[in-house]
Amino acid sequence: MPSYYSLGSIPHKRHTQFRKPNGELFSEQLFSTEGFSNDYSLLYHHHPPTAIVKTDTPVDVSPKVAEERMLKHRSFDGFKIKPVADYLASRIPVLVNNDVQLSLAAPEQSTTDYFVKNADADEVIFIHEGSGTLITQYGQLKFAYGDYLVVPRGSIYQIHFDNDINRLLIIESHSPVTPPKRYLSKYGQLLEHAPYCERDIRKPTDLLTYDEKGDFLIKTKKRGMQYGLHYGFHPFDVVGWDGCCYPFALSIHDFEPITGRVHQPPPVHQTFDAHNFVICSFVPRLFDYHPDAIPAPYNHSNIDSDEMLYYVDGDFMSRKNVTRGMITLHPAGIPHGPHPGAVLKSIGAKETKELAVMVDTFHPLQLTQQALDIENEGYVMSWAE
Ligand SMILES: [Fe+2]
Repeated sequence: MPSYYSLGSIPHKRHTQFRKPNGELFSEQLFSTEGFSNDYSLLYHHHPPTAIVKTDTPVDVSPKVAEERMLKHRSFDGFKIKPVADYLASRIPVLVNNDVQLSLAAPEQSTTDYFVKNADADEVIFIHEGSGTLITQYGQLKFAYGDYLVVPRGSIYQIHFDNDINRLLIIESHSPVTPPKRYLSKYGQLLEHAPYCERDIRKPTDLLTYDEKGDFLIKTKKRGMQYGLHYGFHPFDVVGWDGCCYPFALSIHDFEPITGRVHQPPPVHQTFDAHNFVICSFVPRLFDYHPDAIPAPYNHSNIDSDEMLYYVDGDFMSRKNVTRGMITLHPAGIPHGPHPGAVLKSIGAKETKELAVMVDTFHPLQLTQQALDIENEGYVMSWAE
């Protein structure tokens, strides 16, 4: 739901004749969401975006669930996911349900010989390591450590990395990803009490326009299948667009923490909203300042949500043996809380440098075999030591 934006050339009036210098018409495309009932953009192409010239045999890329039901605390060593050259092949689903799919990826190469389109889900690509440029039909987004790249479903993109060491957490959402509604005015402006504002949302720039004929492969994901669709014209042939639906970037380092005299509940960390799950950012902040405050969290039993925490950097105060890229999963149904000793250790502490991304889902997450392959055994008993 970013604010209205425009790049390149567009006609004064929508749905009217918009011509090239040689008199030919540009081809208009309405890119709408939730049918025709939510944010949309209008794009102007050199050529119709419909000219499929070849199709490949579909490939099943759906996650393979290895453990559908469980009730214990889990921990996974995310950096054990092996680097893979190809970007799409590098994306390893670890935790899934019908609302969201969480994948880890360590891609080594940029996408240069094909384009990516996820018709299933909005993608939130969190950049843990690496930097580069997301190239889209809407323009380019430079990215670096700590960025959330939010890509509406159906957007066509390539991702170019500056080098071969990259670590990504990819959140695929089957519903639109938006800022929390309580932070929005009735017309969609981020309010004063929001932890970030429009200035923090980085929009695409430097629109690239290729008026090229040829064979352009868009690897398109739909219902867990990947379809190789070859188009006759370059997909980045947009001369201009406007609207409210486009990819954007938000750095976790631009998320301003909300603190208080006593411990603040997880919703203060919420960064994005989606149907049946939320995305939260735990960022460096001053601790609670009541003279008798206990900065470590209380034991909690949020009976309605699974908690997935992805540790990015810093010393995580409530857990021991935490490493970068580690995931913990605390399922609904059993309480969890600080590890032994963490409560006393936290008393008197003034600040934390912790950096983490949390995804709370309102329906249970299921585990893939790749998650089991990187599991830290015995985590469920780590409170009893
Ligand atoms: Fe928790």
